[in-house]
Amino acid sequence: MKYHTIEMLTSAVSPAQYPAPNLPEIALAGRSNVGKSSFINAMVGRQGVARTSSQPGKTQTLNFYEIDHQFRFVDLPGYGYARVSKRERERFNQFISDYLHQRENLVALLLLMDFRHPPTVLDLGMKEFADELEIPYAIVTTKIDKIKRSQYSKHIHSFVQLLDLPSDEALFLFSSEDRTGAADLWDVIHSLVE
Ligand code: GTP
Ligand code: MG
Repeated sequence: MKYHTIEMLTSAVSPAQYPAPNLPEIALAGRSNVGKSSFINAMVGRQGVARTSSQPGKTQTLNFYEIDHQFRFVDLPGYGYARVSKRERERFNQFISDYLHQRENLVALLLLMDFRHPPTVLDLGMKEFADELEIPYAIVTTKIDKIKRSQYSKHIHSFVQLLDLPSDEALFLFSSEDRTGAADLWDVIHSLVE
């Protein structure tokens, strides 16, 4: 694996706190606990830079990570966590919505979804939001290590159908445990940020 650098730049809850828009950004969206922070660590081959937790709701701000002095991953707060108050949830949605509407150097979204379960209503809503705002995106299904290989095609089929994807090539299968899928996603990321 190629060596990657990662630097946590800042946490933000409002546009005034974002870092200068001088590098392309790739934002990660997905349900709480889907594995967004783990994804960042796995992609750079480092543990614990992005804080992860077995409890959902760990990431509550927009966290900016500079990668290889070339681009940034932006770890967005997870959606769909039932145990935060409605008011708190609305606040998170506002952070995410502000960022996606306004950020000039946002080049793409990675929409993370749990491979074990069909996409949720909120996952479908997130995809629609990206479509509406015309933000390029890739769908990354996480935790594939938890599914038997013989079951892959059944799960892939359900994602392609429910998300109305042109083909299964629009889906990137990923595991933070063993970094399956990381090489393909690096190719995608490089084509987005170069
Ligand atoms: P929030 O910050 O709450 O939005 O969650 P998150 O999406 O950042 O999830 P996080 O990366 O903290 O991971 C949640 C839990 O899932 C942790 O216990 C991780 O170890 C686990 N996890 C994440 N990705 C994978 C994966 O690919 N395989 C397996 N087996 N576990 C994973
Ligand atoms: Mg997180």
